[in-house]
Amino acid sequence: TTTAALRHYLQFSDLSADDYAYLFERAAIIKKKFKAYERHQPLVDRTLAMIFEKASTRTRVSFEAGMYQLGGSVVNLTTGDSQLGRAEPIEDSAKVISRMVDIVMIRTFGQDKIDAFAANSRVPVINGLTNEFHPCQILADIFTYIEHRGSIQGKTVAWVGDGNNMANTWLQAADILGFTVHVSTPSGYEVDQSIAGIRSAESYQVFKDPMEACRGADLVTTDVWTSMGYEAENEARKAAFADWCVDTEMMRIAQTDALFMHCLPAHRGEEVEADVIDGPQSVVWDEAENRMHVQKALMEFLLLGRLQEA
Ligand code: CP
Ligand code: NVA
Repeated sequence: TTTAALRHYLQFSDLSADDYAYLFERAAIIKKKFKAYERHQPLVDRTLAMIFEKASTRTRVSFEAGMYQLGGSVVNLTTGDSQLGRAEPIEDSAKVISRMVDIVMIRTFGQDKIDAFAANSRVPVINGLTNEFHPCQILADIFTYIEHRGSIQGKTVAWVGDGNNMANTWLQAADILGFTVHVSTPSGYEVDQSIAGIRSAESYQVFKDPMEACRGADLVTTDVWTSMGYEAENEARKAAFADWCVDTEMMRIAQTDALFMHCLPAHRGEEVEADVIDGPQSVVWDEAENRMHVQKALMEFLLLGRLQEA
């Protein structure tokens, strides 16, 4: 079997616009086969190790089901039931785990941890969410946008809420794929351009008023007020974020055919009104499902490189 040169997916900026064009096409093929109950098993005998240092529903199910569908198998590790929770150095864990499996997905806290793992890994490492980034989610979100509306190039995405891992990843994606992000966060929760490491500030614009950020947007999106790892700030955040709730007025000021996305889990009445997330413009269930299809394409790409045909 063929093997691709070693590369990781630690941030959205690890792949090029050309790679993304390939992945979106590939994900569509893989999804179509799945829907037709057609077998697609290029990863027979390959093993994915998943390491979760934070909770997960979608990431766990999408990677695990996806890898089995590709013909491979999965090992699941969590902090509590592995030596990771007993302070084995991440570098040592990487050296050991990557001698036994073919690809690794990690959900952890600081980006420095996944960077350290990757630097010591013999096999590709995928970011399944860090404090700084959530590239697999944005991969799914843009694939979902394309399915519903076509190319995202030149479009406007409104980000309403925390300047968190999702926001940082949207900034990277806009920079690479050529669209604009209108960012509105409460003060003290702004995005930090240096984390995203984007080349120019042209792909994003900052708005004090979340309504203004949504004006004319093609996609309105948000996320929890308190991300995993920040629970101690919950009460302060509830007060600070009260006006950053995506409501029907915000959807009305956006384009008439604007979509609503949320990576989930959602908190109705906090970052989004039930009428929006459960309304006709919401594509959150497609978004969740598409995690699996795009990640299948991603694992195939990282392990086998670009494939010519279906
Ligand atoms: N959106 C997302 O990553 O969900 P989980 O936390 O359930 O994996
Ligand atoms: N920003 C959220 C996303 C959860 C999928 C978090 O990091 O908890």
